[in-house]
This record gives sequence, structure tokens and C-alpha cells, in this order.
Amino acid sequence: MDTPGVIIRPYETSDVEVIKEITVEAFERVSIDKNIEDRFGKLGGTDWRERKAKHIDDDIAANPEGVLVAEYRGEVVGYVTITLDARTRLGRIPNLAVKAGLRGLGIGSKLIEAACEYMKFRGMTHGKIETLDQNEVGLHLYPKMGFEEVARQVHFVKKLS
Ligand SMILES: CC(C)(COP(=O)(O)OP(=O)(O)OC[C@H]1O[C@@H](n2cnc3c(N)ncnc32)[C@H](O)[C@@H]1OP(=O)(O)O)[C@@H](O)C(=O)NCCC(=O)NCCS
Repeated sequence: MDTPGVIIRPYETSDVEVIKEITVEAFERVSIDKNIEDRFGKLGGTDWRERKAKHIDDDIAANPEGVLVAEYRGEVVGYVTITLDARTRLGRIPNLAVKAGLRGLGIGSKLIEAACEYMKFRGMTHGKIETLDQNEVGLHLYPKMGFEEVARQVHFVKKLS
């Protein structure tokens, strides 16, 4: 679907709080951190939202140039983060989210396209994105965008007592 009025641009430091707000809302049902908290409670007194929001700080620290936002009517409504590996030339999309209420309109696809363009521009030959088995949208969208499944991973956690 076309998404008129949506522009993709590099993030600015003033966008960070809204990126984090979108993140903690968007990952409620599709986050390893949330799954762990549901099963075991808070880890070291930290809330899953706090840990997930910190991933954004980590992505920005890893590659500030690789944080792109989708803006609609002057408001940040989604984002994607990208990291690069100059040796393997495999780029990676660690995080991607679109604001609730504006999903299914093509904004996520547009962010992925922009991320792929950026990776190519920076010399990457391949791009990687991961999703959880519980994430029906990711399982549908990424193959549709040309990503091929290469592996499935299972995360285990044990309480140490
Ligand atoms: C994943 C996400 C970024 C996609 O953004 P978006 O703007 O909705 O993406 P698009 O509109 O471009 O495409 C969504 C596709 O998923 C489809 N979809 C929506 N709900 C679905 C469902 N429950 N099961 C399968 N497919 C679904 C849409 O129909 C659309 O596919 P289509 O173009 O073939 O019709 C967004 O859904 C989101 O923020 N989700 C929560 C956070 C998240 O999962 N992030 C990614 C972690 S890997």
C-alpha cells in the first residue's frame, strides 16, 4: 500500500523519547524481555519496558546514523534501527516498530525498504532481521519483503536458586 504523507528521515536526539514510547507499547506482545517477566517476574528489579527501551540507547550508541524515523503530519510514528558489519558486510535490523493505530498501512514496509537502501549504500551485501515465532506480522512481512528464513532459535531461561 502507498503511504502518502509519510517521510523517512534520520532520527534527531529530540526523537528518542517518542521512539522509546513506541517501543514499549509495540513490543508488549512480541518481546523476549516481556516473556521472561511474565514467567519469572522482574529481573534484578528491572521492568521489561526499561530493558527494552535501553535497547534503543544501545542501537543509537552502536550506529547513530542507522536510526531512521517515519514522520507523519509532523509526528514520529515509527522507526527502524540498523547496525553494520564492515567485515562480513551483513547489516542487521535490531529494532523496528510502528505506532499502534497506524499499522497495516505500509509504514513498516517503507521503513524496511529505507533500511535496506541504507545498508546497501553503506556497502552491505546482505541484511538480517529477526522475529519471534509469536510475531505473526513479522513472519508474514519479512518474507514478503524478500528476506529468506535461515534458522529458528529457542530461548530458555532457568531460575537459579
Ligand atoms: C512489525 C511492524 C513494524 C510492521 O509495521 P506496519 O506498518 O504494520 O507494516 P506494513 O503495514 O508495511 O505491513 C504489515 C503486514 O502485516 C500484515 N498483518 C497485519 N496483522 C497481521 C497478522 N496478525 N498476521 C499476519 N499478517 C498480518 C498486514 O496485512 C501487512 O501485510 P500486507 O501488506 O501483505 O497486507 C508493526 O506491526 C509493529 O510495530 N509491530 C509491533 C512491534 C514489532 O513486532 N516489531 C518487529 C519486531 S521483529
